[in-house]
Amino acid sequence: MRVLGLETSCDETGVAVYDGTHGLLAERVYSQVAAHAAYGGVVPEIASRDHVRKLVPLVEETVAAAGIRLDELEGIAYTAGPGLAGALLVGAGFARALAWSLGIPALGVHHMEGHLLAPMLETTTLEMPFLALLVSGGHTQFVQAEALGRYTVLGESLDDAAGEAFDKVAKMLDLGYPGGPRVEALAREGRPGRYRLPRPMTDRPGLDFSFSGLKTHVMTTIAGIDDIAAARADLARAFSDAVVDTFVIKCRRALVQTGLPRLVVAGGVSANQALREALSGLGAELGREVVFPALRYATDNGAMIAYVGHCRLSGGERDGAGFQVRPRWPLTELAPPVASA
Ligand code: KG4
Ligand code: ZN
Repeated sequence: MRVLGLETSCDETGVAVYDGTHGLLAERVYSQVAAHAAYGGVVPEIASRDHVRKLVPLVEETVAAAGIRLDELEGIAYTAGPGLAGALLVGAGFARALAWSLGIPALGVHHMEGHLLAPMLETTTLEMPFLALLVSGGHTQFVQAEALGRYTVLGESLDDAAGEAFDKVAKMLDLGYPGGPRVEALAREGRPGRYRLPRPMTDRPGLDFSFSGLKTHVMTTIAGIDDIAAARADLARAFSDAVVDTFVIKCRRALVQTGLPRLVVAGGVSANQALREALSGLGAELGREVVFPALRYATDNGAMIAYVGHCRLSGGERDGAGFQVRPRWPLTELAPPVASA
């Protein structure tokens, strides 16, 4: 089955064509970074308008790059949530209209299931069950994946997501938006151990996270520094080390507790090289497999949506004629695909 995937949940317009036999045929991602940069973060209204502007040309370009005609598509998958309501509606409305005109099914899929399965775009041998650490701008959670659509959340952030903490710290350090990659780049220049920040919630049992206190620690540390320009890189390093250490401690705990043989780390923050190296080291030490998506599939993209759509549509799943987007949508509400009559 040949499925078009559309991602419009936040500030990336992602489009891809996934084919059950040949894999990914083509993909394009358009980042809205330039449109939001002046505001220091994502402006929902601008995001929706930019998706409207970019979606049609990007679909035309991607389908042409896949070497197919529109009428050779057999299904369309779009991100139905979680995300910004207006941005989601652009993808949903477009997907539904195009599918209707082509007489093919459209299916709304879960953005975080896209992240969860993104490594499978390249690693066909990735088997369930596995433990996943999902780390994005809106989510930080441990998920036990038993089968497609069978997920248990073992722990999650009680406040800020890890990506959100990166973005807020970037603002405090005047690095602008998008924060994660900029903090990472600056941290690489910083000296370790110059500032000491806490490893939140590691001194008590459980698999939940909290990053808002860490962010406040960075703020109070900044308030006590005279020459902030000279200290920025060391501070970025201290923050990055604190986040990475926290994930290593919690992943060790989760792997030992669950006994699961492999760990998947996905979502935007999984693009972070220091995190990748540290968790790969943990995997080697514990004798567990640690899997990351390719860098271009770590952050938001259409390929992961096309892939999930393919898994579910080819499993017979169909949506009804109406559609809704789900700005908030717990991953645990998903179920395995069920063929409808
Ligand atoms: O998955 P994603 O692209 O969008 C959401 O679903 O939220 O994740 C975006 C988040 C942002 O908070 C961004 O700052 C963070 O991922 N991020 C990073 C890196 N690249 C993106 N955080 C740390 N290091 C990075 N290299
Ligand atoms: Zn995402």
